[in-house]
Amino acid sequence: MPKTAYINNKYVNFKNAKIHIEDRGLQFADSVYEVIAVLNGNLIDLDFHLKRLRYSLAELDIKYKFYHNDLKKIFLKLLNKNNTLNGIIYLQVTRGVQYREHKYEDKITPTLIIYTRNKKFNLPGKNFKGVNTVTHEDLRWKRRDIKTVNLLPNIIAANKAKKMKAYEAILLKNGKVTEGTSSNIWIIKKNNLITHPANTDILKGVTRTSILKIIKKTSLKLVEKSFTHKQLLDADEVFLTSSGSFITPILKIDKKKINNGKIGNITLKLAEMYTKSCMNG
Ligand code: PDD
Repeated sequence: MPKTAYINNKYVNFKNAKIHIEDRGLQFADSVYEVIAVLNGNLIDLDFHLKRLRYSLAELDIKYKFYHNDLKKIFLKLLNKNNTLNGIIYLQVTRGVQYREHKYEDKITPTLIIYTRNKKFNLPGKNFKGVNTVTHEDLRWKRRDIKTVNLLPNIIAANKAKKMKAYEAILLKNGKVTEGTSSNIWIIKKNNLITHPANTDILKGVTRTSILKIIKKTSLKLVEKSFTHKQLLDADEVFLTSSGSFITPILKIDKKKINNGKIGNITLKLAEMYTKSCMNG
């Protein structure tokens, strides 16, 4: 358990870190968040995370203003206090505390919550693992591009995965793959690397954005186009990406093995390239 959290301008004991019962984050999921990976003390893709945070806040009209460097200083201080060298930073901004009413007041002060957790990541090397997945209907609302804590449909699908002893659930909308419950999904077919376009149907992953840059250094052809459940099962290789999982190979989807249940060469190469770029800061 971490020692320290940061709530509304104060470093507090993690065990006693509390927010008010009328916080709108609690009552309405009126709240946005970010999960930032920390690898060897490096804050991975911080600029992209803070850019997406500004986007989520603006889309929901949550009036939290911040300076990049102020947040970075808090992150570094918390990592230090919690002895986190490898792990994640969790940040959440709620609209704030107000008497319970669906409509919000204009002058409400947002609640800021930040803490860190140690985590061992799945990185290429001798312990690099592939995972099993299941599929599940995508039950979410129409603004999946906003990173809100409104995550019940994700949680239902993730727990189906847990029950089936799988790592992640891949979400299907009208027979097409959108993304995972907390990851983006990619397939490789011949020389094509295919992933869902970054529109309102998915969260534009920060890891996804970084990988798009890396692909330019390879001979792979990027196709940002939605793909079907059948294309998913027929793919040569499949992998998922997120700040918590980096690039993680998918070896099985429901009952179907991918690449004979082995980590594919292209996935491995991309994972190596991405990890190297993270290590170099
Ligand atoms: N989830 N899609 C969804 C629905 C997600 O929740 C996430 C991340 C991603 C990948 O985004 P990124 O590469 O920026 O982490 C895609 C975080 C890790 C979470 O909720 O814990």
